[in-house]
Amino acid sequence: MKRSSIGVGLFGLGTVGSGVARILLERAETYAERVGTPLVLRRVVVRQLEKPRMVELPAGLLVTDPNAVLEDDSIDIAVEVMGGLEPAYTLIRNALSRGKFVVTANKEVLAQHGPELLALAQDNGVDLLFEASVGGGIPLIAPLKRDLLANEIVGLSAIINGTTNYILTRMTNDGLGLDEALRQAQKLGYAEADPSYDVEGTDAAFKLAIMASLAFRTEIPPQRVYREGITRLAPNDFRYAAELGYAIKLLAISRRDEGRIWARVHPAFIPANELLAKVDGVHNAVQIDGDLTGKVLFQGQGAGSLPTSSTARTTSPWVLRSSLRGALRPTPPSATSTTS
Ligand SMILES: NC(=O)c1ccc[n+]([C@@H]2O[C@H](COP(=O)([O-])OP(=O)(O)OC[C@H]3O[C@@H](n4cnc5c(N)ncnc54)[C@H](OP(=O)(O)O)[C@@H]3O)[C@@H](O)[C@H]2O)c1
Repeated sequence: MKRSSIGVGLFGLGTVGSGVARILLERAETYAERVGTPLVLRRVVVRQLEKPRMVELPAGLLVTDPNAVLEDDSIDIAVEVMGGLEPAYTLIRNALSRGKFVVTANKEVLAQHGPELLALAQDNGVDLLFEASVGGGIPLIAPLKRDLLANEIVGLSAIINGTTNYILTRMTNDGLGLDEALRQAQKLGYAEADPSYDVEGTDAAFKLAIMASLAFRTEIPPQRVYREGITRLAPNDFRYAAELGYAIKLLAISRRDEGRIWARVHPAFIPANELLAKVDGVHNAVQIDGDLTGKVLFQGQGAGSLPTSSTARTTSPWVLRSSLRGALRPTPPSATSTTS
């Protein structure tokens, strides 16, 4: 007996959560056709019920109690898009322990606790999917885990933080100082009121730790990533770089070298004719160097509601066909849920 629907519970309805809720509601028919079973959004957990929302939800879906997702047996997939370490980490743990598939966009939780959570998922016969945690709208995790598997990865170089890339682009093209470029980024919604996480390279270090761990099949904690942000760059640096034929980018780099792996985030000179030097504004790009494939470049929108909800993968037919075999198992007769 096949289940008649797959239940989805959402933790968070901010930038990414609104995009996920919107596409699940608007594209319900298309996804039901592609997956073979309807995906039904059953609960959405937020902090404040009264806050204006970017998406209109059916009545009764919005709640503040996370147990409404965790304890609901009709919810097969929990999507964590709250951000921050806690309570996100504990909620992901609880959801996996209860046999729910988890999809998260949370680089901090993944970088700090990825291996432990992946093991917990395996123990419970479910998957933990985190495609959106690194590249926003750019698929990177599946290529590293699956498509490039035949390669030994030699190294990767990435522009993986849109906020800093926007700031550096304005400093290069318009001769702005850091403070003014940051103010412009904040005005356009590209930078938070407290931008330290981005400008000090912490966000990029989390993302690099996740990518390098996958690329080199080892555990690289974010604390082991060398990190230097963009706060010491001045307009003169950009003038000299241009005169010498270079662009300045905040690069996240990891390489395997004589049996050792190093990972670092810092501003770097890149020859102006290289592809990464031409990645401007809020765009992100990741260049992966495989011993068979050579260099491949992934470029696109590293953030934003709809790009990120695309790779949040709740909706991906590939994931739903291959990863959700568990949720599509016949329901045991004792299960009490709205599924049949
Ligand atoms: N924004 C992007 O473009 C992007 C791209 C890639 C990855 N990500 C990752 O995606 C995640 C979400 O980012 P976002 O930009 O969507 O964040 P956001 O706009 O700040 O939204 C966070 C949501 O989580 C809810 N929330 C936070 N703490 C909560 C708590 N303790 N209990 C209940 N609800 C809580 C908030 O509820 P209220 O609305 O009631 O306050 C809000 O709806 C983060 O891990 C981020 O790094 C974001």
